[in-house]
Amino acid sequence: MKQQTRTNWPFLRSESLTIKRAEGVHLYTADGRAILDAAGGAIVSNIGHGRARVAKRVAEVTADCTYVVPPWTTPSRQALVEALEANWLPEGLRRIHITSGGSEAVEAAVKMALQYHAARGEPERRQIISRSVSYHGTTLATTSLSGHPARKRGLDHALSTYITVPTPYPLRCPLGTHHADAGGFYIENLRSTILSEGPENIAALLAEPITGSSGGALVPPDDYWAAAREICDEFGLLLILDEVMTGFGRTGKTFAYRHWDIEPDILISGKGLAGGYAPLGGVFASEAVGSTLQDAGMNVMFHTFGAHPAACAAGAEVLNIMAEEQLVEQAARKGERLKLLLHEAFDQHPHVAEVRGQGLLLAIEVVRDRATLEPYAERDAISNRIVGKALGKGVFFYGGGTGDVRDIVCMGPAFVIEEAHLTTMVEVLLEAVNEVTT
Ligand SMILES: Cc1ncc(COP(=O)(O)O)c(C=O)c1O
Repeated sequence: MKQQTRTNWPFLRSESLTIKRAEGVHLYTADGRAILDAAGGAIVSNIGHGRARVAKRVAEVTADCTYVVPPWTTPSRQALVEALEANWLPEGLRRIHITSGGSEAVEAAVKMALQYHAARGEPERRQIISRSVSYHGTTLATTSLSGHPARKRGLDHALSTYITVPTPYPLRCPLGTHHADAGGFYIENLRSTILSEGPENIAALLAEPITGSSGGALVPPDDYWAAAREICDEFGLLLILDEVMTGFGRTGKTFAYRHWDIEPDILISGKGLAGGYAPLGGVFASEAVGSTLQDAGMNVMFHTFGAHPAACAAGAEVLNIMAEEQLVEQAARKGERLKLLLHEAFDQHPHVAEVRGQGLLLAIEVVRDRATLEPYAERDAISNRIVGKALGKGVFFYGGGTGDVRDIVCMGPAFVIEEAHLTTMVEVLLEAVNEVTT
């Protein structure tokens, strides 16, 4: 029988790398090279690759309890809920809905917000506010809600329209770079948008507390989130925080919103929940949201594979390992160290506008001119070329940006990364940036 040719994968034909094995922070290619995984895949791997303990648990659960409908309880579903309640979820966010990934979770969260208002007799609250630089997923609704032109190509004409407010982008704040009033500027914009659209038409604000790879680890001004939370309360909007990329320790706190004194009404997670050992996402809603839907007899529909027993087993085991090894604290500490090394390497670099991020979600923004912040042309594909160069030198970084926002190189290694790896990451990144920009 003729062997399947490699060109049938992926869908868009391209030369793709074959990885045969992965362990710790390293990937091993079919031709015998080791690659330092400085991005944990798509900012997913948090406990590192190849932990036999997780694989063993997944195998046991697969043998014991292969598949049952999502609303029923199984030992691994119970274990996941217990792990979430023990170390991760605050008292106020314990209505738990488990999905197979981030897009499904965002979609479910938005539906919950619409149902919540409908149940309370305000069905005209149909609009969602999302932000200009963002990524929320790949379904039609989540693509529509994303501030990501590159991922809307060929779809723009058919997508639903939602309301957009600017994502806080301190480097490029219209008032000036890292302007003292930047927080106020973005908040004023949010308030005036709500007023002009009519608060009675808006169900929720959907946002990433620290913007992930679309903006390149954009941390908002410190006064932004408390004020945004207040505005949501003032106008009756639910606050939905998308922590698919930032959740479960990535930014050095359990969730990124905990860098500020706020709590969302609905929290969304994915990637780090099972650290790459299984496809898993989660929506965690407040009691008010949960009981309102329940009392109104509304359904929160599962996908067939939602809360899959093997995936829940992986999630529970990953979360237990994170707690046992204090990996959130490690992410905070190692993130500080990596940031320092990046500052030393790039603070005077003529083509790097800034180093930014929090914990082990960090990024650099590459520009043609550091003084004016003029970007390279999109066709120059600078960040892709930097990522390609670095990969050739044995380190995998994650290219970010949205097409409009460029040229971003993201870092998000597993929290078990060691000092020598951090040094290698920065050395290789500097070489790659130099080779591409000079
Ligand atoms: C912030 C954010 N939301 C949602 C998603 C979509 O998640 P998934 O790719 O698991 O569907 C992503 C994926 O990168 C993300 O970073």
